[in-house]
Amino acid sequence: MSRIAYVNGQYVLHRDAAVHIEDRGYQFSDGIYEVTAIYKGRPVDNDGHWDRLERSLRELRIDMPMTRGGLDLVAREVVRRNRVRNGIIYIQITRGVSPRNHPFPKDTPPSIVMTARHGLGSKPEVAAKGVSLISHPDIRWGRRDIKTVSLLPNVLAKQAAYEQHAYEAILVGPDGMVSECSSSNAWIVTKDGALVTRPLSNDILGGITRKRLIDLADAEGLRVEERSFSLDEAKAAREVFVSSTSSFAMPVVRIDDSVIGNGHPGSIVTNLRARYFDFLESASGPLWYGH
Ligand code: PDD
Repeated sequence: MSRIAYVNGQYVLHRDAAVHIEDRGYQFSDGIYEVTAIYKGRPVDNDGHWDRLERSLRELRIDMPMTRGGLDLVAREVVRRNRVRNGIIYIQITRGVSPRNHPFPKDTPPSIVMTARHGLGSKPEVAAKGVSLISHPDIRWGRRDIKTVSLLPNVLAKQAAYEQHAYEAILVGPDGMVSECSSSNAWIVTKDGALVTRPLSNDILGGITRKRLIDLADAEGLRVEERSFSLDEAKAAREVFVSSTSSFAMPVVRIDDSVIGNGHPGSIVTNLRARYFDFLESASGPLWYGH
């Protein structure tokens, strides 16, 4: 079966899918993206992802290329044509194609691309064992709340993590405080069992999984504190974990040379991860692929 991508109004073979060299996403990273999970044929937290996509576009003054209903239709078709039951869908929208010039072009329609890929999350053994993080300076810009394709600092941080055989890089500001990770949000559990994650602001991306986990933690009667925490506090925490569309809630057992807790995934994140799977299983939204 051939992979199919959606590019500016057409479904094309993935290997032939292309945008113009003067696409502003390519030249200026002038665009935004979303990554939504497909679990058992259903999009996960679809409304949350479309809300964030609309917000990212609004903040950058890029027009919505189509209505939300249109986005749904195309996303569903991409999932169906690629027969993705468990995987991710990637949506990218840029300010469009125009001769290279910094100011916004006039009367230029945005470019939109959607792809879908099989495979969601790591193997169960990864979460069962827990993962390690390296700390890395957060050198990003001041609007990390916008999900732009401008990911170079994230790429460099993730590469540093990979070169040290770590799962993720936990990003630390000049004040020693953790913002998030290179492609996930960061959490700690305090000695008295409270979950702590950085409050929403321009300093972090408002993760859709982060929000879902806050709701699930609330429902479990866990205390959630949205406040900043330092790298030192994280290293001394009872538990640490990261969250994203594809890692769900992933237990962390080491940061740099510091072992977290007893070196095994903690009970709170293990339980929260299980509740996240319950949530995935209970999804009742539209079925995009399968039966
Ligand atoms: N990354 N923080 C950053 C910097 C991210 O890039 C992501 C997501 C998150 C978590 O957001 P969510 O829970 O909505 O996935 C936090 C995606 C998955 C990516 O870039 O592939």
